[in-house]
Amino acid sequence: MTFHHMHIVGARPNFMKAGPVVRALHEFDKPPLLVHTGQHYDAAMSEIFFEQLGLPQPNLNLGVGSGSHAEQTARLMVALEEVMLQHEPSRVVVYGDINSTLAASIVASKLHIPVAHVEAGLRSFDRTMPEEINRVVTDVLSDLHFVTCPEGVDNLRSEGIHEDGIHFVGNPMIDTLLGVRDALDPTIAERMFGLIGTYGVVTLHRPSNVDDPAVAARVVEGLARVAKVMPLLIPLHPRGRRVLTEVGLFETPGVTVVDPLGYMDFMSLVSGAALVLTDSGGIQEETTVLGIPCLTMRENTERPITITMGTNQLVGNDPDRIAAVAEKVLSEPPHGRIPPLWDGRAGDRIARILVDVASSP
Ligand code: UD1
Repeated sequence: MTFHHMHIVGARPNFMKAGPVVRALHEFDKPPLLVHTGQHYDAAMSEIFFEQLGLPQPNLNLGVGSGSHAEQTARLMVALEEVMLQHEPSRVVVYGDINSTLAASIVASKLHIPVAHVEAGLRSFDRTMPEEINRVVTDVLSDLHFVTCPEGVDNLRSEGIHEDGIHFVGNPMIDTLLGVRDALDPTIAERMFGLIGTYGVVTLHRPSNVDDPAVAARVVEGLARVAKVMPLLIPLHPRGRRVLTEVGLFETPGVTVVDPLGYMDFMSLVSGAALVLTDSGGIQEETTVLGIPCLTMRENTERPITITMGTNQLVGNDPDRIAAVAEKVLSEPPHGRIPPLWDGRAGDRIARILVDVASSP
C-alpha cells in the first residue's frame, strides 16, 4: 500500500505532540499531509507554535473555529470528511483528546480509513470531562495505539483493545520539551514582567473550574491565598476570561494576568518558577520533567504517573487545600523522577512503527 498519511491537529496541545512525529516522518522521507482543523485560531493559540516548534506549515487549514461541543464537532466532521474524500489517505493519525481528535477518528472510521491515536489509553475515569469521552471513543475506533505510560497500556487492555496495536513509545510532547530545554530562559519573569525573586505560574481553562462563577470564585480565592506568599503570573486562556473577570481575578493582589504566551516563553516561565498551579493535562507532564512542583486544580488526572513518579499533586478547587499544599510544597525540596521512555525519542519510535505497519503486507 502507498504511504499516504494524513495527520490531524487542531488546538494548542496537539502541536507539541505532532511536531516530533511529523519531523521524524520527514526524515524517513515519508512526509504526511498535515491538516489543521482551526479549532484554535488566535495567533497566540496556534501560529506561534508552528513557528517556534519548527513544524511544517499545515498543508490545509479548515478554519472550523469555536462553538458548542455539538456544533464544533459537527463542523469538524463535515470539513474533515471533505478533505479525506478528496485526498484518500491510507491512514489518519490523531493526537490527544480534543474535539478535533474525536471528529477525525469518527469520520476516518466511517470511510474505512485506519486510525492511529497518539497519546492513547489515558483515562481520568471522569466522564463529565469532554476530553474523557473523546479519549474513549478515539481509542475504540483506532487500530494503532501509541501510549505514553504503562498505565495507559493497562487501561487499553482492560477495555479489550487488541494487544497487537498497542505500542508503549514514550511521550512525544516531552520530545519537544527536551529539544528546547537548553534554550529556555528561567529569568524571563523578571525580564518580561518585572517579577523579582520567587514566583508561581498559573494556568486555568477547564470548564469544571471556569464556567461556573461560584467555582471560579473559589479557585480565585485559593490563588489569592497563595499570592500572599509569592507573586503569581497567569497567562490566561481566552476560554475563562469573562467569568474570571467577573469574580475578580484581575483585581487579586499579587496576581498578574497576561495574554497567552508562545511555547518558548511559557516553558521558560515554568522553568524558573517555584511552583505551578494548573488544570491543564500537558503541564502536569512538563513540570514533572522540569522538576517543578505542580498543584493540579482538579479532583482526578488521566496522567497518574505524574503523581506516582513526578512532581504533581491533586488539590481540587478548595481554597484551604490549595493554600495548605502550596505552603507544604514550598517548604520541601522538589522531588520526582522522569517516567520511563520520556527520553526525547518517542516521535522517532512512532514514525518508525507507522512506516513499518504501512509496509507490512
Ligand atoms: C481545547 C481542548 C482542551 C485543551 C485546550 C487547550 C476540547 C474539548 N478541549 O479546549 O482539551 O486542553 O483546547 O487549549 O477540544 N478561543 C479563542 N481563541 C482560540 C480558541 C478558543 O478565543 O483560538 C475561545 C473561544 O471562546 C472558544 C473557547 O475558547 O469558544 C473554547 O475553545 P475550544 O476549542 O472549544 O476548547 P478549549 O477550551 O480551548
